[in-house]
Amino acid sequence: MAAAEDDARRLDAEDPGHRELFLVPPADGGAHPETAYLAGNSLGLQPRAVRRELLEDLDAWARLGVEGHLEAARPWLPYHELLRDPAARLVGALPAETVVMNSLTVNLHLLMVSFYRPAGARTLIVVEDSAFPSDSYAVRSQAAFHGLDPDRTVLRTSEPLATIREHGDRIALVLLGGVNYLTGELMDIPGITAAGRAAGAVVGWDLAHAAGNVPLRLHEWGVDFAAWCSYKYLNAGPGAVAAAFVHERHGRDASVPRLAGWWGNDPATRFQMRPEFVPTPGADGWQLSNPPILALAPLRVSLEVFHRAGLWRLREKSIVLTRYFETLIRERLSNVLEIATPREAERRGCQLSLRVRGGRESGRSLLDYLNEHGIIVDWREPDVIRASPTPLYNRRIDCLRFVLGVRAWASRHG
Ligand SMILES: Cc1ncc(COP(=O)(O)O)c(C=O)c1O
Repeated sequence: MAAAEDDARRLDAEDPGHRELFLVPPADGGAHPETAYLAGNSLGLQPRAVRRELLEDLDAWARLGVEGHLEAARPWLPYHELLRDPAARLVGALPAETVVMNSLTVNLHLLMVSFYRPAGARTLIVVEDSAFPSDSYAVRSQAAFHGLDPDRTVLRTSEPLATIREHGDRIALVLLGGVNYLTGELMDIPGITAAGRAAGAVVGWDLAHAAGNVPLRLHEWGVDFAAWCSYKYLNAGPGAVAAAFVHERHGRDASVPRLAGWWGNDPATRFQMRPEFVPTPGADGWQLSNPPILALAPLRVSLEVFHRAGLWRLREKSIVLTRYFETLIRERLSNVLEIATPREAERRGCQLSLRVRGGRESGRSLLDYLNEHGIIVDWREPDVIRASPTPLYNRRIDCLRFVLGVRAWASRHG
């Protein structure tokens, strides 16, 4: 392993990435000062610049009080607009198609209010077999909200294209994870979107594990709507503000039904305090409340980091890093771990989902051992360790530390 370590360090030195822009949690003793942080799929790291810029926004509040809405160096009234272009670039959207607001499940609900409109025989909602529970609760509750039986309305499938072919004229909505949270599989977003729309359904995507992980072209692919959180690969902090995409063909249409709030009203008349709602064209028209400036600050900073790094360049590095990680695991840990994520780079992002061969009990023991030894990964029931070398701040040596950690655990546990 010493040769592998030398190689990893040499390659890391040749390609240092953007690690210096982030605060990597320190390790608690041991040979390494920092953790091998492979949990960016769960909670991304803090960009160093966040603290300074957040303090600037706090200072503006302290100095200006209410005047900060217009007088702050970054005025609060149009603050969310600062995030619009970088958020749109990240997902391949037109600026007017993207808005930063609320949290992910809230946005999914708001968008389903507009785009899940069961009518006649067309009532079904298609989700993936291993949909994230919150998505499952959301679609089931939407079905119930329309007076439908969730058990008969929500179709779970591992073959979305086949399900669309089979049930096309009864499907109202297809709502899938762009990258599956459990397996790390990157779905065929353009293909499924085209098939769903050709069948007459609306197609929406939960991009929690895709945004900032893989390049997306939501506008070009004709996606109807999407939502994503920004605490994972977008590094905007725990519970950070989420985002939403509404394709311009819907954004232009003021007649699309929606739940309304004053921040979605046309800014030209917002402060005239009229009772009738006039939606702002574009995704902005789905906003309800005035945005939380202090919560937007970290996302603004982290989107700048992405802009500077370049998503396509990051993707190139990501493919190399995850391939390196995968090869190490296949060659050295196949007796302990089975990789559940597809092998092809175009069918995955940076995450590898690793089934622990010994089952749940062994898996929990391995997870605890790794975390105690400064190798930070996460767990999903029933037996999956998720580990994600993210190209912004991970290095080959982090992947190697994971492998050494698993081997050390395995040597103790037979
Ligand atoms: C795929 C997916 N969907 C939805 C959620 C729920 O997100 P939130 O709590 O921000 O609504 C998560 C959270 O991790 C997720 O991974």
